[in-house]
This record gives sequence, structure tokens and C-alpha cells, in this order.
Amino acid sequence: MSDSALAVSELEVAYGAVPAVRGVSFAVGEGEIVGLIGPNGAGKSTTLHAIVGLVPARGGDVTLRGRSLRGWSPERIARAGVALVPEGRRLFAELTVEENLRLGLAARRENGSARDALAEVFALFPVLEEFRRRHAGALSGGQQQQLAIARALVAKPSVLLLDEPSLGLAPTIVDLVFSTLAQIRDRGLAILLVEQRAQRTVALADRTHVLANGELRLELTPRDAGDTDRMIAAYLA
Ligand SMILES: Nc1ncnc2c1ncn2[C@@H]1O[C@H](COP(=O)(O)OP(=O)(O)O)[C@@H](O)[C@H]1O
Ligand SMILES: [Mg+2]
Repeated sequence: MSDSALAVSELEVAYGAVPAVRGVSFAVGEGEIVGLIGPNGAGKSTTLHAIVGLVPARGGDVTLRGRSLRGWSPERIARAGVALVPEGRRLFAELTVEENLRLGLAARRENGSARDALAEVFALFPVLEEFRRRHAGALSGGQQQQLAIARALVAKPSVLLLDEPSLGLAPTIVDLVFSTLAQIRDRGLAILLVEQRAQRTVALADRTHVLANGELRLELTPRDAGDTDRMIAAYLA
């Protein structure tokens, strides 16, 4: 587990005196998608924010290929190869698609060519190349989500974290987002996918953890995707 691309062990996070994440442990290997599902307020976003250093861990550890990220700044964690696609996308609406992508390049680790990095994400999301000179604010929700994922990918992360990427998207765009995640998994990225769409996530991910009230309750595999009763029981436990 310590050699996994990303490992979270016995993670504890609290806001003041209120615990939000309580003893959470899981790992994501290269070429894996691990799902994290659970009701609102379960601690999913907090887990992601602790991994990227936006909130401090009160206990436990996060390791990247066995190396502890404890005490690292968000900038240093990004440069080490961990990228977050935040909830709500957080794009610069007044900037063009291409300008948003160039900001993503700033977090890049290697000095590979910017043109190659852009060409790669344009191959994944052709609509972004077509609209490269449009303002991000003028794009549809689905196009904005593609841009948010592309902005994370141009930095060439080894670990990609996504916070509810399908929120508010039409079903066909959800299909596109999920099939793109399968494609980039196959290139060797380690992906941690936080979602509300439980069934879709369980079907896609190699493993899915159910989080409730800050604690992991259950681990599901694609074979469980049809068994929603079991998932709901886990939520209510
Ligand atoms: N900045 C914050 N300050 C205080 N409490 C917070 C903050 N962010 C989240 N919380 C609380 O922590 C718990 C977990 O929230 P969160 O991680 O956002 O859950 P999820 O993403 O699963 O909906 C909730 O009880 C929420 O109210
Ligand atoms: Mg959340």
C-alpha cells in the first residue's frame, strides 16, 4: 500500500472541534480509478482538500509513491504531480479556453512543450480546440467541465482527483466525462473520483469506498453496481 501512487492512511480532519474525516484509509494505484461516494456532508471534499494540502490533517498521513506529503504546501503538492478538479470547476470565466489551459501549464512538472500538452487535451476533448478562443464563461456546463479536467491534465499529473465532475451535467455529457476518465486511467494515471452518482461510479471504478459521517463504511466493486439496495443500506447505517 505504501508504494501505491496515492495512499491515505488513518486520515483525521476536523474543523475546530468538529470532526469531518475520521480514520480514513485507502490507496489508489497507477492505472486505477478509485471511487469515493456518500451523502452530502460525509467528508468527501474534505478528504480531497486534505490530500492537496488545502486543509491540514489532524492525524494520519498521505503518501505519494511512499513519500509523505505531511506539512507540504498546496503548490508543492501540485508540483509533485497531484491535480484536483474542484467542485464547481473554478474556471476564469473572462479568460478564453486557451488562456485557462495555459494557467494549468504553470503547475507542470516537466518542461515538455506546451504545444504537445495542449494537443493532447485537444485530442481528448475536441470541442475545446474548436472553442479555444471563446471565453470560458460562454461555454455550456459540459464544455466547462471538460475544460476543468483538461486544465488539470495539462500539468501532467500522476494523480488526478475529481470532486463531483458530473454535477449538473446532462446524461450524454456524463457519459463523455466517464468514458474520458476510463481513457486516461488506461494511460497509467491514478484517479480518485468523488461522485454523487453512485451506480455509475461503482460500475466504472476498480473499487469504490462508501463514506458516511466521516468514516469508510463499505467497499464496492463493479460486480456490485446493480445492487443499489446494499449501497443505500450502507448510507443509512
Ligand atoms: N470550511 C468548513 N468549515 C467548517 N465545517 C466544514 C467546512 N467544510 C466542510 N465542513 C463540514 O465538514 C463536513 C464534511 O463536509 P464535506 O467534506 O464538504 O462533505 P461532502 O463533500 O461529502 O459533502 C460537513 O459536516 C460540513 O458541514
Ligand atoms: Mg463535497
